[in-house]
Amino acid sequence: MSESTGPRPALDLEAFPPSFAWGTATSAYQIEGAVAEDGRAPSIWDTFSRVPGAIDNGDHGDTACDHYHRWPEDIALMKELGTDTYRLSVAWPRVVPGGDGPVNKAGLDFYDRLVDGLLDAGITPSVTLYHWDLPQALQDRGGWTVRETAEHLAAYTTAVAERLGDRVTRWATLNEPLCSGWIGHLEGRMAPGLTDLTAAVRASYHLLLGHGLATRALRAAVPGARIGLVTNHSTVASASDRPEDLAAAVRMDGHTNRWWLDPVHGRGFPADMRELYGVDLPERPGDLDVIAAPLDWHGLNYYFPVTVADDPEGPVPYAREVRVPDVPRSGMDWQIDAGGLEALLLRLTEDYGVRELYVTENGSAFPDTVGPDGAVHDPERTGYLEEHLAACARAVRKGVPLAGYYAWSLLDNFEWAYGYDKRFGLVHVDYATQRRTVKTSGRRYADIIRAHREATAG
Ligand code: FCB
Repeated sequence: MSESTGPRPALDLEAFPPSFAWGTATSAYQIEGAVAEDGRAPSIWDTFSRVPGAIDNGDHGDTACDHYHRWPEDIALMKELGTDTYRLSVAWPRVVPGGDGPVNKAGLDFYDRLVDGLLDAGITPSVTLYHWDLPQALQDRGGWTVRETAEHLAAYTTAVAERLGDRVTRWATLNEPLCSGWIGHLEGRMAPGLTDLTAAVRASYHLLLGHGLATRALRAAVPGARIGLVTNHSTVASASDRPEDLAAAVRMDGHTNRWWLDPVHGRGFPADMRELYGVDLPERPGDLDVIAAPLDWHGLNYYFPVTVADDPEGPVPYAREVRVPDVPRSGMDWQIDAGGLEALLLRLTEDYGVRELYVTENGSAFPDTVGPDGAVHDPERTGYLEEHLAACARAVRKGVPLAGYYAWSLLDNFEWAYGYDKRFGLVHVDYATQRRTVKTSGRRYADIIRAHREATAG
């Protein structure tokens, strides 16, 4: 069952290989709640969400979707959707509450149960180690601006890998280091809420170093692990053909895309951006090799494209986002452009030589409500999903080695600085009752998954 929003792009499902992984994604702080249970200590998001004005409506993740207690119901929802994989993140402050030092067995027990529950349901877990919830104890010692945090990430990774590695094969180190680095330390809109270029550049470096060290730790602890990094990107267009605007687009591309991809792919940090930031990197011999540790796959999170104009008086990278008129937008006010997803998949394949790709997040927020018929009709999200899957199929036809797609998100959840008002789920959550309702888009996703299986069976 699904509803129409006008002409649908043809969904070329046969483009996707029979083994294509259909999934949904979430992250720990956004859904778990139970922030003080079983030995969990505060993370930087517990702290940041208490800063007056930091989060819309003063929301926080104390209860969120109560997934910590309701995970069996949530796995049942995944089964109902027919997905075959689920991307979750492990909360560092549950497993190593102090950031470094003693491992909290009760914290690991939760993920142990969750992984067993997923496997029993025939759903392959894909585990992300760091989705932004740094233990506050480490922030108090400098957070990502200091090298030790990268080393502690590796030690925490070993603890998780030793516990789950007998059952989990697909691992990601970091989620979207751009957001931790730039939005958390330069723009101040995410935890830890700093606006300091030197701190931001140092944090970006240590995040990528941490990625490399965690990759090593995983290789050592889990033979046969399939390891990736999850980064978010946007295509960058120039607002005009003026040379100043074209140069601004190159800078924004460096800031958003190349700064994060080049070092991981063995090219080092881009020289033009190093010069622009003017901050010495805390480099030590051998670091670049650690950062460029070979990976098995790359995860792309894609939501929107950006268009920029020169902005010499503005903040780094001196490129101001320009609002494109008369284009479709989601409830986040983000421009909707599925062509950007196709372009980025092609760039990762052709320019960076990635040999196995996942779309690890893609989705849209709209102000959904449960109707009088008890259903949640969300034709715009359904349209977004179909258009972006059509873009994936085009990319595959052009040679992109796309192995799977994870819809963001399984559930409506705590959307960081936007709180609970921004709903990204394929499943609606009524936060007062914790009642879950599969939206029409979720039903459509289930239909698509089933149709792909039928089209490629045998
Ligand atoms: C991404 C985050 C994810 C979610 C989506 C909407 O940047 O990785 O946690 O908030 O955006």
